[in-house]
Amino acid sequence: MLVGFLGWISLLFEPLADVYIPPIQPQERLRPGHRPWHQIITGVYGRPPLWKIHNRHGDVNWSFHRDDVTQALPHDVHKCLYAHANDATEIKYMNNGTSVGGVYSDLAVVMNHTPDNPATDKLFTFTLCRRNDVLWNAHTLEPLPGDLLAVGTTGQRAWDGILVYNASAANPLMANPPILQNITGLRAIHGLIWDEQGQMLWAAGTDAAADGSDPVPAYGTIVGYPWNRETGLLVKDDRYVYKLPEAKRIEAEWGKGYSWWAGLHDLVPIPNQRKFLVSEDRGLHAFDIETGQYTEHYENVTEKYLHGFEVTTKGRHGYTDGEWEELPQSDLKSFNIAPDGSFIYVQSLWTKFRGFHTSLVINGKRRKINIGDEIYRSRWFGNLDGWPKP
Ligand SMILES: *[C@@H]1O[C@H](CO)[C@@H](O)[C@H](O)[C@H]1NC(C)=O
Ligand SMILES: *[C@@H]1O[C@H](CO)[C@@H](O)[C@H](O)[C@H]1NC(C)=O
Ligand SMILES: *[C@@H]1O[C@H](CO)[C@@H](O)[C@H](O)[C@H]1NC(C)=O
Ligand SMILES: *[C@@H]1O[C@H](CO)[C@@H](O)[C@H](O)[C@H]1NC(C)=O
Ligand SMILES: *[C@@H]1O[C@H](CO)[C@@H](O)[C@H](O)[C@H]1NC(C)=O
Repeated sequence: MLVGFLGWISLLFEPLADVYIPPIQPQERLRPGHRPWHQIITGVYGRPPLWKIHNRHGDVNWSFHRDDVTQALPHDVHKCLYAHANDATEIKYMNNGTSVGGVYSDLAVVMNHTPDNPATDKLFTFTLCRRNDVLWNAHTLEPLPGDLLAVGTTGQRAWDGILVYNASAANPLMANPPILQNITGLRAIHGLIWDEQGQMLWAAGTDAAADGSDPVPAYGTIVGYPWNRETGLLVKDDRYVYKLPEAKRIEAEWGKGYSWWAGLHDLVPIPNQRKFLVSEDRGLHAFDIETGQYTEHYENVTEKYLHGFEVTTKGRHGYTDGEWEELPQSDLKSFNIAPDGSFIYVQSLWTKFRGFHTSLVINGKRRKINIGDEIYRSRWFGNLDGWPKP
């Protein structure tokens, strides 16, 4: 269990407590006149991939294509940027919007986003090549305090998990920068999110090999890693390991006898609440941080939190363990809720890995944007209220 509400109060009055809760700063975009939640960032798969920031109509305001790079790059970084990989697996708002981070081709990369200053715009400030046995499938990354960056390795083995790097722009670019911390154990990590209030990094993955190569079922699992300010490192703590109540194979989608277990995709905070929604291969779950409980599952999640959610393609059904199932919420590779209640999501096609538009729901009404683009993730380009990035 996490420290409950009263627990936090006692920490506030205990001067020697080693947990420091910084106040959440007022945000620029909450000033009158600033129109929030009109900017969305989307990664478009392709050879080469494309990142773009666009509005609610899909009108592009900023984009990144590798030919935009004029900066001199180390040879091995250049090779990973110009790899054959079509990946645009992650794209994130960072540093108050002055950076964008994510996965592009064979690189995990953080670059400047300064559209008003073309001289610095799109300069890489951190690079990591994924072309090796450890990082080849890395799906996600998240900034940590002190200019550090956590990268999920998204693998199936006991030594997979999270690698932490120094992403300070003062360091030279490298294809293989030194690893500051190596946290093993959580497999198939697809979502990472910094929790400013709780001062911890949360990760969504599975407790065992999602591909079925372990002799036990793999449960979708959310893990919290408290941040130790003194050491500047994350802490592995068994108190913050939360498994879903059941492990299920993904036979309905991929056929009888398919070895993979349902794994987690996106871990998404509800603005101004201590709650996450998490998508897995089969559907959605809600998680309450204070009680450490999963509170709603499947259609109860969409009914309560995602009014206006619609399945994007027909035929999302099949047999699991001999039982016929409809899985309208399956394969939400990404989704994101704005404080005004509007939300976006990308659902891959059934038996495919990507979708071909982004769904945007405003006041319970869905429309499609980015039609025709091959997409894994779209996110709001902003600091979510209550969930600022470090
Ligand atoms: C982001 O903005 C806040 C509030 O203005 C400021 O305190 C913080 O230092 C900024 N962070 C970065 C990384 O620029
Ligand atoms: C769109 O980009 C331009 C520069 O390319 C920038 O000046 C403007 O502020 C951006 N608009 C929004 C809404 O971010
Ligand atoms: C992380 O630590 C594990 C266990 O000690 C080790 O097997 C693995 O090689 C390490 N990973 C990296 C990338 O160094
Ligand atoms: C990260 O790199 C910067 C620039 O070299 C350095 O000042 C800082 O101390 C480093 N942080 C850690 C935790 O090593
Ligand atoms: C949805 O909520 C109802 C009422 O609490 C409950 O009976 C049902 O089992 C829930 N469904 C799922 C899929 O959790």
